[in-house]
Amino acid sequence: MPRVLLLVPTVTYRAPDFVAAARALGVDLVVGTDDAAGLAADGRLVTIPLADPDAATDTIEAIDRKIGVDAVVAVDDGGSLAAARAGERLGFPHNPPDAVAATRDKAEMRRRLARAEVPQPRFASTGADVGYPCVVKPTGLSGSRGVIRCDTPEAEHAARARIAAFWSGPVIVEQYVPGVEVAVEGLLRAGDLELLATFDKPDPLVGPYFEETLYVTPSRLPVEQLRAVERATARAASALGLTEGPVHAELRIDGERLHVIEVAARSIGGLCARTLRFGVGVSLEELVLRHACSMPLDGIAREQVAAGVMMLPIPRSGTLAAVHGREHALAVPLVEGLELTIPVGRPVVALPEGDRYLGFLFARGPTSEVVETALREATSRLGIVVK
Ligand SMILES: Nc1ncnc2c1ncn2[C@@H]1O[C@H](COP(=O)(O)OP(=O)(O)O)[C@@H](O)[C@H]1O
Ligand SMILES: [Mg+2]
Repeated sequence: MPRVLLLVPTVTYRAPDFVAAARALGVDLVVGTDDAAGLAADGRLVTIPLADPDAATDTIEAIDRKIGVDAVVAVDDGGSLAAARAGERLGFPHNPPDAVAATRDKAEMRRRLARAEVPQPRFASTGADVGYPCVVKPTGLSGSRGVIRCDTPEAEHAARARIAAFWSGPVIVEQYVPGVEVAVEGLLRAGDLELLATFDKPDPLVGPYFEETLYVTPSRLPVEQLRAVERATARAASALGLTEGPVHAELRIDGERLHVIEVAARSIGGLCARTLRFGVGVSLEELVLRHACSMPLDGIAREQVAAGVMMLPIPRSGTLAAVHGREHALAVPLVEGLELTIPVGRPVVALPEGDRYLGFLFARGPTSEVVETALREATSRLGIVVK
């Protein structure tokens, strides 16, 4: 039975889905996290200092010597660099660590994409150099934290001050690209990108903050545009130097022009992976574990139906007082599930500072249109009270 060390940030929604996938595959899972005492999960837990990739790599090597490990998989951005370094040292399938580091640094990502002439927004260190509207973003955060559209130099000044209150690293400024946005889920094997799914993000994402809400697959873009999206994603992954494992990319299409917004060396975040099923009911987590263990990956075409998720945003900062109407939301035809990820009574922080979602609504159906409609209807039936 192969043994996988799963690197999990203490704050994650996804550990249980990987545990289930490991069980289905007959993989022995050991969960490594920053603070093993702080994570409730069944199975074996070890503490690994994920925030310090060097120390984490040493710890992983020691774990391998002690119990023998066949692969290291990072659930999220937080462990991806440690997984790459450990993979390199211990000889598991892995991305080059410098490529993973480039995905965690939005400035380095832009430079690498520029060198390879991958289409992307113009970027600079001030809005004056790219023009307005622009987007200011911290180079090292994710989940839209601190990503702010600015239409004037004054707005840029205010955005920088707002970001500085919670991010002390550099920021990058990009040309604001209008148009539609899609997300691509793929799996790299020996440098070849296998496309797993393309999602439409049908809510207008025009800022000033970029809350993620709807993801619906399959995308309704014309086939030629989808091909172009796939090609651009593959070129971007290769320009960054990524070669193995899951990638999650976001691209914008402005008329005829495609722009790569970003490529992450991980699978889709939050609980959104639950929208995806491959072959006969195989989860995305199973695919990731299979790839890591060099198990066969036949039949990884996504199921035929459409699927989608509504990531429930936090309407404003405060304390989550109540979530009304859950049964009504779940009663909407095609809606399959609702997971609230923040308990009532807890503080909630809205974007651009926030780093969580309230929860996730899932739907499946014959077409992307009906899935989207069902998710919108179910969302409208929820009463989220923040005090
Ligand atoms: N240059 C840009 N033009 C238009 N929208 C952008 C731009 N950069 C980011 N965004 C919007 O902000 C979201 C988050 O930005 P992104 O660079 O992906 O950071 P994060 O790592 O936080 O997800 C994107 O999905 C997109 O909707
Ligand atoms: Mg993003």
